[in-house]
Amino acid sequence: MSLVNDISFFMKWDMVRLLFTIMASFCDIVKNVFLPPVWKSVEGDVILITGGGHGLGKELAVELAKLGAVIVIWDIHDTDTGDIIRENGGICFEYKCDVSDSKMVYACAGRVRKDVGDVRVLINNAGIVNGLDFLDSPDIGLRKTFEVNVFAHFWVILF
Ligand SMILES: NC(=O)c1ccc[n+]([C@@H]2O[C@H](COP(=O)([O-])OP(=O)(O)OC[C@H]3O[C@@H](n4cnc5c(N)ncnc54)[C@H](O)[C@@H]3O)[C@@H](O)[C@H]2O)c1
Repeated sequence: MSLVNDISFFMKWDMVRLLFTIMASFCDIVKNVFLPPVWKSVEGDVILITGGGHGLGKELAVELAKLGAVIVIWDIHDTDTGDIIRENGGICFEYKCDVSDSKMVYACAGRVRKDVGDVRVLINNAGIVNGLDFLDSPDIGLRKTFEVNVFAHFWVILF
């Protein structure tokens, strides 16, 4: 009986918290209608995008370059992102870098500092998906997924 009371107490408390969160979100929406957030300018900012050679990273790179950002791309594969940005009058520096390799990340970081300067915004976008069920995934695939999708974030932030 006491367990049932405990559960119903927590469920009531959860309902109160849910209602409070909904009300706070609603207030936030109303506030944003009357006091819209001020957009930050990225003009001249050095923005590093890992995995900027393809997909979402590439789209972000092209759009941010149009806003005047200096784009730095690290990708494991060759890419035409830099060419597209330069054709549109933007600035882009590209480096071949495997973000899962900490030594390569530190070496690339040194080159960026020398060639471009300090990075203002980091977009940790590079990632892989093996598309297999967990139990069907070979050890090497799981290890690589963690190296690219998890550990790489530490190497990139540490530089
Ligand atoms: N597309 C989606 O629907 C979706 C959904 C959720 C999350 N994501 C995540 O968003 C990110 C981008 O997704 P996407 O669909 O554009 O991926 P994508 O495969 O199109 O592009 C990923 C880029 O990362 C690069 N890359 C892969 N491993 C790398 C490594 N070790 N070092 C450096 N670069 C490497 C690839 O060469 C490629 O250019 C990924 O992290 C992905 O997991 C995507």
